[in-house]
Amino acid sequence: MMAASALPADSAASSPAPGKAGFANDGRDWRDWRDWHWPDEAACAATAAALAGQPALRDATIELHGPLGAGKTTFVRHLLRALGVAGRIKSPTYTVVETYRATCADRPGDDGDFAISHFDFYRFTDARELLDAGLRDLFAAPGLKLVEWPSRAAGLLPAADLRLSLEPQADDSRRVRAEALTPRGRELLA
Ligand SMILES: Nc1ncnc2c1ncn2[C@@H]1O[C@H](COP(=O)(O)OP(=O)(O)OP(=O)(O)O)[C@@H](O)[C@H]1O
Ligand SMILES: [Mg+2]
Repeated sequence: MMAASALPADSAASSPAPGKAGFANDGRDWRDWRDWHWPDEAACAATAAALAGQPALRDATIELHGPLGAGKTTFVRHLLRALGVAGRIKSPTYTVVETYRATCADRPGDDGDFAISHFDFYRFTDARELLDAGLRDLFAAPGLKLVEWPSRAAGLLPAADLRLSLEPQADDSRRVRAEALTPRGRELLA
């Protein structure tokens, strides 16, 4: 069993944005998390830019939780821009998925060229849609997957590596918990 001390003392300082860090392990399951605070959209962009530099991102699945207007799509837009995506980045609220290619040659450890699928299951009502729309193929293919409203397709989606939960505050800032759900998710927070 891994003890809390297995986390390097400076892990929060080297994570995509400064924040509190935690680790829990009940012997069956572990979670590794960071708590961030985004006072404004620039802070959201800074977290996205830091995450864009993580080598593990090219095959990661990231869930985005939070109410309408929390900033899920905004975070994805900043992440995609940091990965070299040019042109319009539409919210996939009506199309369920939008696809892109990362073209960010200065990423460490790879050529920065990989597929990105941005899903939004908000309007998703019928599980068969997942099959009809070929969405499973996109999930099975290599690449970065970003998923808004994953709860609307619960039980149908593969396990995510990272869960981001965005909580708007009364002062319009955002509290964000980032939870690593797999070893790859931990790499993203390292
Ligand atoms: N700190 C912040 N981080 C992110 N977005 C912020 C922040 N402060 C204000 N905003 C604003 O909040 C709005 C978030 O809208 P966005 O479409 O990203 O939400 P969403 O979570 O994707 O909602 P939906 O569930 O409808 O898809 C944007 O207008 C953005 O500019
Ligand atoms: Mg959205």
